[in-house]
Amino acid sequence: MSGYVFGTTDLVDEQRESMQRCLDPITFARLEDLGVGPGWRCLDVGGGGGSVADRLGRMVGETGSVLVTDTAPDGLCTRGNVEVRHHDIVTDELPEAEFDLVHARLVLLHLPERRRALDRMVRALKPGGWLLLGEFDCTWLRVLAAPSAQDGAAFSRFHRALCAVLEQAGADVEWGVHAYRAVQELGLVEIGSLAHAEPWPGGGDGARWLEINSRQLEERLLGTGPVTAGDLDGVRASLGDPAFVVSSYLTISTWGRRPVDGWQGRAGR
Ligand SMILES: C[S@@+](CC[C@H](N)C(=O)[O-])C[C@H]1O[C@@H](n2cnc3c(N)ncnc32)[C@H](O)[C@@H]1O
Repeated sequence: MSGYVFGTTDLVDEQRESMQRCLDPITFARLEDLGVGPGWRCLDVGGGGGSVADRLGRMVGETGSVLVTDTAPDGLCTRGNVEVRHHDIVTDELPEAEFDLVHARLVLLHLPERRRALDRMVRALKPGGWLLLGEFDCTWLRVLAAPSAQDGAAFSRFHRALCAVLEQAGADVEWGVHAYRAVQELGLVEIGSLAHAEPWPGGGDGARWLEINSRQLEERLLGTGPVTAGDLDGVRASLGDPAFVVSSYLTISTWGRRPVDGWQGRAGR
């Protein structure tokens, strides 16, 4: 199976909630920085639990509107100025030159066809419209403190296996870093990026998210080799213990603007 590995797994609602609690403050700050405001027409690709679409809906007000898409839109509901659409960013068309803002968080990282999807997202921007991506560099995550060296080593084996499972499905676990160049190659201007990392202590939202991932992907994780069922039990115990602390993933926001005039898209297209 390639693409998004968490789509049909258990605990998706809890996963979405912990993800949103970890990442919404970062994303919301970037939306403020870009000046999203009344009257904007926005697209949130792969909107998941809908927190970003809800926020955008409030920011753009009655004169603006938000389209939020997902291949699994069960966590989303149409209300007010927020419209939900079942949509696959890899295979389904988008309207061209329609949006003032196109946003995606932790979607393209998973998709082997991320460049095609990104190209489509950029073509959906109005001239002068903003693209905002929020993506991880998964290789950043480290054990910061552990009650024992064995706890730290078991977590590291688990995390290596998690990255291997994602990569087997076509993910780019360093996409957060690669996104800047991809945006540049599409001819956007005023490109910027900002990276964020913080400690994720056991028992907190970030640790809970990782623990959920360990359950959602248990079979695949055990299939990769180095991680054992005993490791996973230990890792889950560690992720509930405030004395066990990992760094968060490096969360990299990357943005760029479609030129107002003369934009041709990717060279040679
Ligand atoms: C890691 S979740 C992120 C959800 C949300 N963007 C957030 O950050 O809270 C990835 C989301 O992308 C959706 N997704 C996966 N493949 C997709 C595709 N080809 N087109 C659109 N959405 C997709 C999944 O269903 C899931 O909701």
